[in-house]
Amino acid sequence: MKVLLAGGAGYIGSHTAIEIAKLGHDIVIADDFSNSKPEAINRVRTIIGKDFPFYELDIADKEKLRALFEAEKPEAVIHFAGYKAVGESVAKPIAYYRNNLDTTLTLLEVMKEYDCHNLIFSSSATVYGAPDEVPIKETAVVGRCTNPYGWTKYMIEVILDGAAFADKELSVVLLRYFNPVGAHESGLIGEDPQGIPNNLMPFISQVAIGKRECLSVFGNDYDTKDGTGVRDYIHVVDLANGHACALNYAAAHKGIEVFNLGTSIGYSVLDMVKAFEEANGVKVPYKIVDRRPGDIAECYADATKSRELLGWKANKTLVDMCRDSWNWQSKNPNGYDA
Ligand code: WQD
Repeated sequence: MKVLLAGGAGYIGSHTAIEIAKLGHDIVIADDFSNSKPEAINRVRTIIGKDFPFYELDIADKEKLRALFEAEKPEAVIHFAGYKAVGESVAKPIAYYRNNLDTTLTLLEVMKEYDCHNLIFSSSATVYGAPDEVPIKETAVVGRCTNPYGWTKYMIEVILDGAAFADKELSVVLLRYFNPVGAHESGLIGEDPQGIPNNLMPFISQVAIGKRECLSVFGNDYDTKDGTGVRDYIHVVDLANGHACALNYAAAHKGIEVFNLGTSIGYSVLDMVKAFEEANGVKVPYKIVDRRPGDIAECYADATKSRELLGWKANKTLVDMCRDSWNWQSKNPNGYDA
């Protein structure tokens, strides 16, 4: 199948491109490099071992997107094209609503014009907000978002639900990611946050390599095993394979379906620090500081539905996640910048 990866130069998109190309799909990547680098595309080509069409464009630019569909005629779209920094979304809400909703609405319009009926959307466990119980099932309450980034993911899920109801030809799969970490085993691609990392694993990696002095642990007074936040960390390659399964599912079904992509295992911040140190033989100095506003205590998936309906489960271990994160970081101390 020919698959367009909208926003495919980013962390999740680049890893997904490799996994679906390995399965024989023809890939097309479009990205505006607002949160990624051209070097990532070069690295994907190296890993895949063959060329593929790449378009530098804003997915919300309807004329340019039409030209891509005219030339490539994709049969499915995986939609990664959105801003994704929680803290930044609080400071720049309008830019987040404008970008994340416009890319989605423009994609839906152009897909319709070009008879492309399969859409996989990169959603997030953030739509659950603070869960009533863990592990979290797809049927849990959603829409209790705590930041504009989360609201855009929730709003897009609502938009796609309405689109699938109105257009019986449309097949939509919503993938609610938990906490993606790690990197491709080659160490050629990985997470390349700009500036100070918001997320835990890239921050740990930068402390380990000496780019940051010390990890600040945001609170140790949560009602969890050791007082620090618990999350469902999932290897980005496992996550990428979830998209491959979602493509098969979308091709075989109409309507909309939602799936959690998580390991169903929760690890605390201190678990992650310890695992990273042991897996890589490095030290990660840390200090306990105040809670980060908006953080929740615990969040991890019930991934039963993904296993039963998608035929997918996460296989990589916490050691794999830590080793592959470190392999990427130590080989690329400045990310994709030389
Ligand atoms: C994980 C844990 C922090 C940094 C967010 C988004 C989610 C997705 C993943 C985009 C928490 C603690 C972190 C640090 C720390 N993003 N922490 N010190 O907040 O669970 O999820 O990122 O798709 O949608 O909501 O991830 O990695 O920021 O935090 O103690 O320097 O690590 O308090 O307990 P989070 P995170």
